[in-house]
Amino acid sequence: MSAKRAIITGIEAFLPEYILTNDEISTMVDTTDEWIMTRIGVKERRILKEDGLGTSYMGAEAVRRLLEKTGTNPEEVDMVLCATVSPDMLFPATANIISDKVGITNAWGYDINAGCSGFLFSFATASTFVQSGQSKKMVLVTGERMSGMTDYTDRTTCPLFGDAAVAMLIEPTDDENLGLYDQILRVDGIGRHYLYQKAGGSAYPPTEETLKNREHYIHQDGQTVFKYAVSRMADVSVEIMEKHNLKAEDIAYLIPHQANMRIIEATGKRMGLTSEKILINIEKYGNTAGTSIPLVLWEYEKNFKKGDILVFSAFGAGFTWGSMLYRWAY
Ligand code: UT7
Repeated sequence: MSAKRAIITGIEAFLPEYILTNDEISTMVDTTDEWIMTRIGVKERRILKEDGLGTSYMGAEAVRRLLEKTGTNPEEVDMVLCATVSPDMLFPATANIISDKVGITNAWGYDINAGCSGFLFSFATASTFVQSGQSKKMVLVTGERMSGMTDYTDRTTCPLFGDAAVAMLIEPTDDENLGLYDQILRVDGIGRHYLYQKAGGSAYPPTEETLKNREHYIHQDGQTVFKYAVSRMADVSVEIMEKHNLKAEDIAYLIPHQANMRIIEATGKRMGLTSEKILINIEKYGNTAGTSIPLVLWEYEKNFKKGDILVFSAFGAGFTWGSMLYRWAY
C-alpha cells in the first residue's frame, strides 16, 4: 500500500480591517508611493491596530471561519500547528492559545519559526504526521502580526510588512495524483546577520538599553537579503522542476512568497513562466511573512482545478528557503 499524501481540504483567512496606505506611510517617514511601488510593489497593507490583540486573535478568527466553512467540529481536530515569527508571547505556543480560543480540546500542537518560509516548513511537518497516519485532521495556521515589531521610523523596513492569518485543514488522501508530493527545503544560519529581531529573546533580554536602541524591531540589511533571496528562490524552484521533468506549460501556477515584486518576477523568469501563471497579491497586503503563500491560495482558491500543479516558493529569515510541488485537491 502506498503512503498517503497530505492535502489541503479547506482554507480561510482573517485580515484586519485597518488599511495602511503608502500615502499614510509617506507622512511617517521620508518616502513616496512611487518609490515603494517601484522598488517593492506594495500599495497598502493590513494592520491589526487594537492593543492586546496578537497573532492568536487573527489565527483564531481564521480557524473559526475554516471550521464553519468545512463543517468541522473542533473536537475532531487532532493537531494544530502554527507557523509564526510573531507569536503572542515567547511561550506558551500560539498554536495552544488558538486551540483554546476555538475549542479544539482533543489535539496537540506547537509553533514553527521558519521566517517567511514558515508555510513551507510547517506544511512539510504537517505532511509527515499525515503520511505516517498520526494525524487525520490537522489545522495548520500561518499568522503574523508583523506591525508589532515594525519600526515605523525606519523607511527601509516599514513599507514592507503587513498583518494577516490563514487557517488550512490538512487531511490524508489515497489519491497519488493529489497533494504535496515533493519539496526542497534549506537553511543557512548566515542569515542571522542580515535579518533579525535582536532583543527580547534569551541572548538579549529586554532592558531599557535595548528599548532605547530600538532593538525589538525588525532589522534587515535589505540589499544582502535581496541578493540571497533572488538567487536561492529561483534556484530551488528550477531544481524541483528539473527533478520532476516539468516544463513551464505543466505548471498551472507559481505561488511565491510576497516580499518584493522584483524577486517574484526574477523567480518566474528563471522558471520560464508567463506572467499569468505567477499569482501575486503583494500590492494589497505587503509581506505577511510565512502567511503570504497561504494568503494567495485563499484569495485565488476559485481559480484552481483539481489536479492543478502548483509550485510554492519562499525565502526568509534564517536564512530559510525552499520550493514545493503540490497538486490542488478540489
Ligand atoms: O521576506 C523576507 C525576505 N526579505 C526580502 O526578501 C526583502 C529583500 N530586500 C528588498 O526587498 C529590498 O532590498 C528593499 C525593498 C528592502 C530595499 O530596496 P533596494 O532597492 O535594495 O534599496 P536599497 O536598500 O539599495 O536603497 C537604495 C536607496 C538608498 O538611498 P541611497 O543610499 O542610495 O541614497 C536608501 O536609503 O533607497 C533609499 N531608500 C528609500 N528611499 C525612499 C530605502 N528605503 C526607502 C524608502 N523610500 N522607503
